[in-house]
Amino acid sequence: MKTYIVGNWKMNLTVGESSIYLQKLLKRIKMSKDIEVAVAPSTIALQTLSVQLERNKSKVKLAAQNFYHRDYGAYTGEVSVMQLNGLVNYAIVGHSERRYIFGETNKDLKLKVAAAIRNNITPILCVGETENERTYGETKDVIRDEIFGALSEIDAEDVKKVIIAYEPVWAISSTKGAKIAAPDEIANTIKLIKSELKEIYGKEIAEKVPILYGGSVNPSNAGAYLTIPGVNGLLIGGSSLISDHFIDIIEIAKRVAR
Ligand code: PGA
Repeated sequence: MKTYIVGNWKMNLTVGESSIYLQKLLKRIKMSKDIEVAVAPSTIALQTLSVQLERNKSKVKLAAQNFYHRDYGAYTGEVSVMQLNGLVNYAIVGHSERRYIFGETNKDLKLKVAAAIRNNITPILCVGETENERTYGETKDVIRDEIFGALSEIDAEDVKKVIIAYEPVWAISSTKGAKIAAPDEIANTIKLIKSELKEIYGKEIAEKVPILYGGSVNPSNAGAYLTIPGVNGLLIGGSSLISDHFIDIIEIAKRVAR
């Protein structure tokens, strides 16, 4: 399986800044067949960046940070995943900021996962417990609800098109005071995710679903996270905004994959 390195720029960088960043990335990285690199800029930058990637014949991919589950219609202000088709290969679904700031529920996410698959875009489904849930020993139940909730209508054939990102909410944005998750603790939750997938789809199919880790990943800890058994890549927020850090993480991933 490939190693996925995905940068989530969140609500940062103008279109111009995004384009300059991408140019630097394209100049500096040598793509490898073992590593899939994707960035998730703001929606307004997707068109520009997509043209830029095409012009450079680059294998770097784009991801959407969000979308609405309906394909078209009277939904002022929304962007559908159908409209993103042709611009992105991936779409982040259920990031904790969407869940906790914008109130997205597992029911909403079920519709989004289905919409992404229907439109040939790979959903990167984020799951993870909050600090309180972790303190009260609820991690297992939360992960179970999030996986079963979002995938309940996805069959075995389609789940092979899904990527799961485990992002403990308490470990996101260490620059804003979050904790750094220890690889051991992550390993346990990854096992849990795998066993939930096995329970629904059986071992063979479950093994085909890539699982990424996200939460305060930086060039100093990326190697340790990538060597956790069952981790197939990283979803990176803050550190992906610094192009040098993101490039370092890609290089680390190449070394680990070898
Ligand atoms: P972080 O963000 O790397 O800044 O912790 C990760 C994420 O929110 O996906």
